[in-house]
Amino acid sequence: MDRFVIKGGTSLSGRVTISGAKNATLPIMAASLLAEGETTIENIPDVVDVRTMGELLALLGAKVRFDTHSVAVDASGEIGVEAPYDVVKRMRASYYVLGPLIARFKRARVSVPGGCAIGARPVDLHLKGMKELGCDVRIVHGYIDAKTSGLTGTHMLLSGPKGPSVGATINVMLASSLAKGETIIEGAACEPEVVDCADFLACMGARIEGAGTSIISVRGVKRLKGVKYRIIPDRIEAGTFACAAAITKGEVEIAGCIPDHVGAVIERLREAGVKLEVGKKRLFVRSSEKLRPVNVTIACYPGFPTDMQAQMMALMSVVSGTSVITETIFENRFMHVPELTRMGAQIRIDGNHAIVTGVKKLTGAPVMASDLRASAALVLAGLVAGGETHVSRVYHLDRGYESFDEKMRGLGARIERIADEA
Ligand code: UD1
Repeated sequence: MDRFVIKGGTSLSGRVTISGAKNATLPIMAASLLAEGETTIENIPDVVDVRTMGELLALLGAKVRFDTHSVAVDASGEIGVEAPYDVVKRMRASYYVLGPLIARFKRARVSVPGGCAIGARPVDLHLKGMKELGCDVRIVHGYIDAKTSGLTGTHMLLSGPKGPSVGATINVMLASSLAKGETIIEGAACEPEVVDCADFLACMGARIEGAGTSIISVRGVKRLKGVKYRIIPDRIEAGTFACAAAITKGEVEIAGCIPDHVGAVIERLREAGVKLEVGKKRLFVRSSEKLRPVNVTIACYPGFPTDMQAQMMALMSVVSGTSVITETIFENRFMHVPELTRMGAQIRIDGNHAIVTGVKKLTGAPVMASDLRASAALVLAGLVAGGETHVSRVYHLDRGYESFDEKMRGLGARIERIADEA
């Protein structure tokens, strides 16, 4: 298991280039099961989750060939229908094979993903969507066992008590693209990853309208073809580097991003006093001497993303004054709080609110990463902490950030990866 050793105190400066979006790559790779020919997906990030999706598709019988930042998937041979527990327990997003397998082969067995560090994370909306399309869905021996004699388009309301679901919206889009007739998804998630996936399906020959709004219509077609497609940049990686520049009072150009996709993060950072210039495909972040505390309430896109909550909290923990961060999507997503507290942060949890009282200085400490974005927050804290911070369990970070330590070093951070003995 690797850990990071960070020596705090350096202002970041220079240019960092953003990789492709992990959360768009995963469903798009799964969607390539819908085509009978070869699909090439470009601008994919080199992260563990993407490799795991490749492994799953290969296990199902697809030919999968990774190249530098691209992957070719050919699902024209014989394809199995079972996503086993061993893979799903490593990566929840394995559930994205459910929709394509049912649509193309009328059968799927996908291990039920368990909860994770950020909450219970049910999959009821995925199952509801499949049932409404005409699937018989049961949970048997820990597996979602789904069968159909043929999917039929329908009008469904997909959002749950926590609002829309990115995963369920995409899974239903994938399944309904080969269904008979029209499917209307009301209460759809509007995230850019949903739009990217719809754009990909459209290239394959699907007829989709409304992606990016809360009502998506999908008219099923008989077959989809293999295509070449380029993934959008990762908005969470861009936001993370913006917070890293801000917390270290640095000057960083974040290249190869879509600033519109990080609108809410830009707004909150500006409110805090960070100078941000928005270019066409880049962001320039300059942090002034003294920042102001800001309150942040997490919301679905275009609101402030839950995947940026921990990084924003790391920033607020060193901004003088009090800020309140309210998590509305994954209410248990505060596992980074005790770790930040070990570094001297003053944060109190009250229900789904984190009340952060900024301190003058954090101090380096051994801390443990609990999930992907929490890991990034701990690295950000380490960048400004006095002395050395050891972040263990960085495999969480490797699941979703490409070469995070290398990119940080490119900006002047003093961060080393140490391989611990097992
Ligand atoms: C995706 C992202 C994740 C991000 C999240 C919210 C991927 C691989 N992951 O996760 O990084 O944090 O969107 O932007 O893209 N819910 C239900 N029933 C369901 C499904 C979801 O109640 O069937 C709830 C969830 O527990 C959560 C809320 O809906 O409270 C939103 O979750 P969802 O959008 O589905 O998250 P994911 O797609 O799993």
